[in-house]
Amino acid sequence: MSEKRIMEISKLLIEAKESIQKASSTEEGEALRIEFLGRKGKFAEIMEKLAKLPLAQKRKQGQEANSAKTEIEYLLAQKNKELSQKGAEKIAATEKIDVTLPGLAPKNGHIHPLTQIQDQIVEIFTSFGYTQASGPEIESEEYNFDKLNILANHPARDMWDTFFVKDKGMVLRTHTSPVQIRYMLKNKPPLRIFAPGRTYRYEQIDAGHLPNFYQCEGLVIDKNITLADLKGTIEEFIKRLFGPQAKIRMRQSYFPFTEPSVEVDMSCTVCKGRGCGVCKTTGWMEIMGAGMVSPQVLRNVGLDPAQWQGFAFGMGIDRICMLKYGVEDIRLLYSANLRFLEQF
Ligand code: FA5
Repeated sequence: MSEKRIMEISKLLIEAKESIQKASSTEEGEALRIEFLGRKGKFAEIMEKLAKLPLAQKRKQGQEANSAKTEIEYLLAQKNKELSQKGAEKIAATEKIDVTLPGLAPKNGHIHPLTQIQDQIVEIFTSFGYTQASGPEIESEEYNFDKLNILANHPARDMWDTFFVKDKGMVLRTHTSPVQIRYMLKNKPPLRIFAPGRTYRYEQIDAGHLPNFYQCEGLVIDKNITLADLKGTIEEFIKRLFGPQAKIRMRQSYFPFTEPSVEVDMSCTVCKGRGCGVCKTTGWMEIMGAGMVSPQVLRNVGLDPAQWQGFAFGMGIDRICMLKYGVEDIRLLYSANLRFLEQF
């Protein structure tokens, strides 16, 4: 009985060796592995029978079976190695790669439309002889409000719905106007600056408003500056950016830091003034607040209003971008929508 079992193991080993030798592909090799060593394979069958033998026989024949199994595993691994090498050689001999074919061009990113507009703004004001300035996005209430004559407890503070931060006396700047203050405190007039940057407001989101957006501040301080200089500057800027047909209009307005104050609307370039989604059918879009720098602001930074005058403006870069590219909803500018972004 015991002899018969050993015969079964050695028979299986011979059979496996022959089959492995004949195998001509890695697929065949895998089929043999399943046939002999698989969970329901020929070896498993023998092991099942061995389990029923008395202990002494089980031990002896178990060893025999294990060494046969190890040998089969080794032979299979060798064969596999040999076959995959042969396969690679065959591919190398028969398949050809034409290295002269053009490759796939990597997909290039491009500049975001808001950045494109900002770059053009920088170019235009630099050509006007203005210096670029900047300030922090987390700003003191003193620069964001007080020094701009927006006093605490004055109802005018409600014009800017503010995000406060944990540090006492600090806010996320609600406009770029504090850059005016910072610059005037550090530099003597005459001066001409522009300051593009990010601004934040606790704002209801809609097609024209976001809680964070971009503005570009402008400030000119010199002698004998009038509202006509402001109007001429804005008109020239708009024509450079949009072309000679672009029109602006000024409406009387109120800001605590300018006197007189205006709001500037631009003719809607998308519908040519006929009325569309971008301009909410009015034919005009509000693009900035502006005015003559208030004497109180000049005094706050140590300048004598009898000697110096100036104008200032704060334009909404997102709004200008919408007009330039005919974007009906400001939210698209901040989406990761590639079908939208790839148009620019
Ligand atoms: C101001 O922020 C003033 N600091 C502008 C100013 C500067 C006036 C210097 C006088 C002198 P206003 O809140 O109107 O003003 O904002 C200016 C422009 O920013 C608006 O005309 C609009 O184009 C843009 N803007 C304002 N709020 C938003 C918003 N939530 N989303 C997108 N753009 C906005």
